[in-house]
Amino acid sequence: MSTVKEIPLVEQASELWTAVNAVRRRGGTVGLVPTMGYLHEGHGSLVARSAAENDLTVVSIFVNPLQFAEGEDHGTYPRDLDRDREMSAGAGAGLVFAPCTEEMYPQAPITSVAVKGLNAVLEGRYRPTHFDGVTTVVAKLFSLLGPGRAYFGEKDYQQLAIIRRMASDLSLPVEVVGCPTVREPDGLAMSSRNVYLSADERPAATVLWRSLQAGRDAVVEGSRNPDEVEAVMAAVLAAEPKASPDYTAVVDAATLDRPDVLDGELRLLVAARIGRARLIDNMGVSCDRI
Ligand code: PAJ
Repeated sequence: MSTVKEIPLVEQASELWTAVNAVRRRGGTVGLVPTMGYLHEGHGSLVARSAAENDLTVVSIFVNPLQFAEGEDHGTYPRDLDRDREMSAGAGAGLVFAPCTEEMYPQAPITSVAVKGLNAVLEGRYRPTHFDGVTTVVAKLFSLLGPGRAYFGEKDYQQLAIIRRMASDLSLPVEVVGCPTVREPDGLAMSSRNVYLSADERPAATVLWRSLQAGRDAVVEGSRNPDEVEAVMAAVLAAEPKASPDYTAVVDAATLDRPDVLDGELRLLVAARIGRARLIDNMGVSCDRI
């Protein structure tokens, strides 16, 4: 274990267990913020929330190969461990867990956690193996640490829904806490992948946020037809020449099912590619509170 900027960096699972257990034995609570690093204020908000609610907050940093498909950006995913340690400490974390791939997967895993159905819709149609990689590594992190609470961003809304369902189906002794999306002043959701955007692509990236706002306005103005709302969102994306849309969707916020008639709590979701970056975003809208 080495210490830089007063936050311990742990690379080994056995060492992690010892550190976390020392806190638990004293009756302390442990919060986990799983990340792939290259931290920004969105991650920072999760860390700050955990630090406010737990005696020890662990930030895990692991670019999980299982959740990237062939041809995706696993090899080029941005990394900066020193800055991540500094940001984690600044936001109130007590420990960073940054294992290497061999530490996490000493042998190629032949066991995986799949949240069936939910892993195949929306993002799952474009990234069919992605969510099984996410749930497998998150389940593994839960086992390695035993956190009482774990913090995830609404930015990855489908991921949050899938992890909640995994924890419920498997009776995992962890409270899954969802945290609101942190945005740039112009509405772009913060993301480690925003660094892929060139200077002339960056303004175009606000199109996801604008598409969501247009969808929300359509619902607020009384549209209860999902085709109509999705078409409004798609038209905004189509008007941005730098964006190649993957999907626009309106679903039930709890089940992610697509209703025939819009009702209750909804979630609007969009995905588009801009240059080298594939970006996703989402927004809640309630039919009941209008
Ligand atoms: P990563 O993309 O690094 O995100 C880590 C956590 O930060 C996720 O819960 C994500 O939803 C949250 N987050 C990202 N951008 C955010 C923003 N702008 N506002 C609020 N929260 C934000 O998601 C992953 O890593 C991985 O799939 C992981 C869960 C770590 C499993 O490998």
